[in-house]
Formats: sequence, C-alpha cells, structure tokens
Amino acid sequence: MIKKLSKCIGEYKKDAILSPVFVGCETFLEVLIPFLMSKLIDKGINAGNLGEIIKYGAILIVFALCSLTFGILAGSYAAKASTGFAKNIRKRMFYNVQNFSFRNIDKFSTASIVTRLTTDVTNLQNSFLMIIRTAVRCPAMLIFSLAMTMYISGKMSIIFLVLLPFMAVALFLISSSAHPIFKKMFKTYDKLNRIVQENLRGIRVVKSYVREDHEADKFKEVSGEIYNYSIGAEKILSFNGPVMQLATYTAIIAIAWFGAKMIVVGNLTEGQLVSLLSYVMQVLMSLMMLSMVFVMLVMSRASAERITEILDEESDIKNPEEAVKELNSGKIEFKNVFFGYSDNKERYCLKDINLTIESGETVGIIGGTGSSKSTLVQLIPRLYDTKEGEVLVDGRNVREYDLEVLRDSVAMVLQKNELFSGTIKDNLCWGNKDATEEEIIRICRLAQADSFIQSFPEKYETKIEQGGTNVSGGQKQRLCIARALLKKPKILILDDSTSAVDTRTDAEIRRAFREEIPHITKLIIAQRISSVQDADKIIVMDNGRIDAVGTHDQLLESNEIYREVYNSQLKGGEE
Ligand SMILES: Nc1ncnc2c1ncn2[C@@H]1O[C@H](COP(=O)(O)OP(=O)(O)OP(=O)(O)O)[C@@H](O)[C@H]1O
Ligand SMILES: [Mg+2]
Repeated sequence: MIKKLSKCIGEYKKDAILSPVFVGCETFLEVLIPFLMSKLIDKGINAGNLGEIIKYGAILIVFALCSLTFGILAGSYAAKASTGFAKNIRKRMFYNVQNFSFRNIDKFSTASIVTRLTTDVTNLQNSFLMIIRTAVRCPAMLIFSLAMTMYISGKMSIIFLVLLPFMAVALFLISSSAHPIFKKMFKTYDKLNRIVQENLRGIRVVKSYVREDHEADKFKEVSGEIYNYSIGAEKILSFNGPVMQLATYTAIIAIAWFGAKMIVVGNLTEGQLVSLLSYVMQVLMSLMMLSMVFVMLVMSRASAERITEILDEESDIKNPEEAVKELNSGKIEFKNVFFGYSDNKERYCLKDINLTIESGETVGIIGGTGSSKSTLVQLIPRLYDTKEGEVLVDGRNVREYDLEVLRDSVAMVLQKNELFSGTIKDNLCWGNKDATEEEIIRICRLAQADSFIQSFPEKYETKIEQGGTNVSGGQKQRLCIARALLKKPKILILDDSTSAVDTRTDAEIRRAFREEIPHITKLIIAQRISSVQDADKIIVMDNGRIDAVGTHDQLLESNEIYREVYNSQLKGGEE
C-alpha cells in the first residue's frame, strides 16, 4: 500500500525530500540553543563576564534566525509536496475509474467513489504533510535532546528511559482502538454521499411525492451516525493529550527534584539544570508531536486503504495483447452464451443463448421486464464479459477486438441514457468529434430530432442542463439516438430508446432507418409490438432464454407469449 501510494509523489519528490532536509537543519539548531543558554548562564551571568554574555547572545540570535529561515523553507516545500501528492493520487484514481468496467462500478457504487476521491484524499494529504514535516523533526529532536541530556548528566537520562516505554504502550492502545471506528466512519460517509446524491438527482421525484421530510430524516440519521462514530473515536484519541502531559510533568518534577539535590552537592551547575529542563520540554514536545502524527496516521490509514482499493482495482475488461483493430461487418453471433451479474450459476440471467444476426438485418427484441433483454445486448459492445460461451462480431470473439474499435463500431443507446451539460452540439459530437454541420443535421433528421432542435431559439447551440433535465423524455431519447448514429457504427443497438417517443415519430424513425441506413445492423429492444413488427426477425425473450425467433407473422402463428403481448396491446389500442 505504502509503495503504491509513494509512487504518487512523482514529480514532487524534490519537494518531499527538501522539506525534511530543512526540517533537520532547523531541529539541529533548535537543539543547540538550550546548550548555548547553559554556557551563557554559567560562563557569562554567573561569572559576571560581559564579553561572554555578548558572544553567546550574538550566537544565539544568529542560530534563532537561521532556524526560523529553515523552518519557513521546510513549510513551503512541505505544502507543495503534499498538495502535489494529493493531485497525483486524484489523477490516478480518476484515470483508473475511467477504465473501470460496468462490473467494477457496480462493485464500488458511485457515492463511495466520490467520497474516496474527495474526503479520503484530503485526509491522506494532511497526514502526508504532517509526516514530511515531523518524520525527521521528531526523531531527530528526540535523539539530539537525549544525547545532550546524557552528555550533561547521565543519571538524568534514566528518567526518560523509564517514561518512554510507558508512553509507547499508551499510544499503541489508543491507536489500535481508534482505527476500527474510523474505518466505520468512512463507510458511513459513503452512505451520506449516496443519500445526498440520490436526493439531488431525484429531487423532482422527492418533491412530487412530498417526501422531503422522509429524506431529511434519512439524512439526519446518517449524519447522526457519523457524529457518533466521530465522537467515539475522538473520545479515545483524547486520552492522548493527558497521557503526554502526565509524562511531561512527571519528568519535569523528577528533574527539578533530583537536579536541585545535585546542585547542592555540586554535581550540576545552574546553567545545566536550565538546559536540562529545556531538553525535557523538547523531548516531550517531540513525543507529543509524534503521538499527534500517530493519531493522523490512524485516521488516514483507513483512507489510504480505501484509496488503494481504487488504485488496485483492475478493470476486468481489458484490451487484449494483440488487439484486432478492424471490424468490417455487423454480423453478430451468440454461441452457447451464459451470463450472470454474480458468479452464482443458479442466478445466471442468460442461459444457453444461441443466435445469429446477419449484417444489415433489423432485429426486434421483445420480452417482459426483467427477461434480460438489456443484459443480452450489453454483451455485444463488451460492457460485460460472458461467463460461458462466446459472442462474435464480424466472425471474431469480441474479446479479441481493441475495445475502442469495438465500441466505436457498436453504438448503443442505453436504457438509462444520459446527456451531459453542454450544448446540444457538444453532446452530439461525443461519438465523433469531427462531425461536420451538414452531417449532424442529416443524422438529426434521420433520428427525427432536427425539427424540435430547430424550434429552440438557439438551435444546436441550446444548452443542455446537467442530466438533460431541460429537454423532454422523448427529445432526450432522439438526441441519444442521433449521438449514437454519429459514430457511424456497424451495429446500432437501441435499448428501449423510443419508449417515450409517440408512435408516429417512432414509425418515422424506423422508416428513416430502413431507407437511409440499410447497411447497419439494428437491434431494437421495445415494449411495443409496433416498434418491431416490420423487423427482419424478432427475438422473444423469456426469463433469460430465447423463447422463439421469427418474423411477426410467424410468431403470431406459433408463439404463445408473442401472441399474448400482441393481443393485449391491440385491445388496449381499440379501447
Ligand atoms: N447491474 C446489475 N447488477 C445485478 N443484477 C442486474 C444488473 N442489471 C440487471 N440485473 C438483473 O438482471 C435481470 C435482467 O435484467 P435486464 O435489465 O436485462 O432486464 P430487461 O429485460 O432489460 O428488463 P426491462 O424491460 O425492464 O428493461 C434482472 O433480474 C435484473 O434484476
Ligand atoms: Mg432493459
């Protein structure tokens, strides 16, 4: 984990190294200061020697100024290194998330990915800043000060040796009990993010169902949970301060007590006692700081684990080594295909699918909700991989293709389609950056989108709001169809993509498809029989299996399910 994260320091290595170096210089000078103080007291003040006082006084001022300069330099390099570190982690995480397959995304959930990219990275950034500023400072200070203490008086250093193990045990106990609570707290952050995200996305639904109070309660509950975890963890961590204080004051009392006795006997000078007391403070301050770093580490350990989970997650759909970059025809074959969203064989959603679709054919897919229609077509652009069997496009297994080539050739309008904020034109050009004005208009006419786009005052420059909330459902669907067509695919898959379009426009779209893009293989999933009636063949799905394949007339004659759907829709129409 540490190795993986430290790679993210990248180009900020220089800053990350310079900062501790300056901290080291700063610390070294700081440790020398009490020693010089003792000299100033013993040789200058006690001896009444003004020359010595001025000499040591001047040295002290120079040391203090240098120490300050080093401190400032260390601080600025540390800030640069830690923000750079965070930037690199975010970048890597984001890039990796872009590579995620649908399955990877299912696994993490969007809300959790968002928390990891924001809160967790900030945590890690803060503790990284602490580490590079104190990782050198505290141990160096500890060692220098201990060494100076031993140099001045060997006996006094025994006090530290007694206290140190006591503090180590206390720190260990504190951190090991706080870590699990922090872990739970971040999990709850995921939940909070999910609730907020869900609420904001669905705010219109929330309002129309007057569920504001319910949503507010949900939010209150989770933020209360976070509050409790946070209080719980902080309670444990709050022991840290008193433990350190106890140790500090015990040491000071012990030194004052034994020091005074030693001065009386003549084993110690007044100046030495003063410097010893400064060293106690320095040793204990550095221990206190170490313990604070410790606390941060405990807190950020949970975050670091969650970040590495994202960094380590490998997309289970990867480009093959020697990828095929050419895809010439829109022929599709399914051979003994089995598929499920989990590895549990009994819960497979597709069972033993065998199917051949010739290039240029128009194929309708019909079936009840949950009969795995969407699941079936998602295997063609390799949004998911089959569990058993193979899916072939243009005679080759889809796993052999370069993913970009495959997905450019197989345009799919997802059932849950999305428009992004930007102009209509921006959205349309997603699949094809270089599309010309004429091309865009031609394709939009084909998808029956041009007329309503032209009716907007700003036409193709009309701004689409986030999530496409300012166009109607049917308009959005037509825009998505046009966007897919602009990719100039070999295969076009429409997953329930005309459900919100009126039947007349739907028929217009089908006519345009037939006349203007006859060479493209078209798979049309629909609930309405009228949408697939004139297809070359129609597939009837039932519970993850293909129930029948045939033309409209054949199916009407021979297939029970199809006939039932047809009759129910016919009746609905007559009424
Ligand atoms: N991402 C997913 N993770 C787990 N299970 C899923 C996922 N997507 C779909 N399923 C399950 O797979 C089964 C088939 O779903 P699918 O979306 O393919 O049905 P469908 O025929 O397209 O239905 P509809 O007509 O309502 O769109 C359902 O039981 C559904 O619960
Ligand atoms: Mg579906």
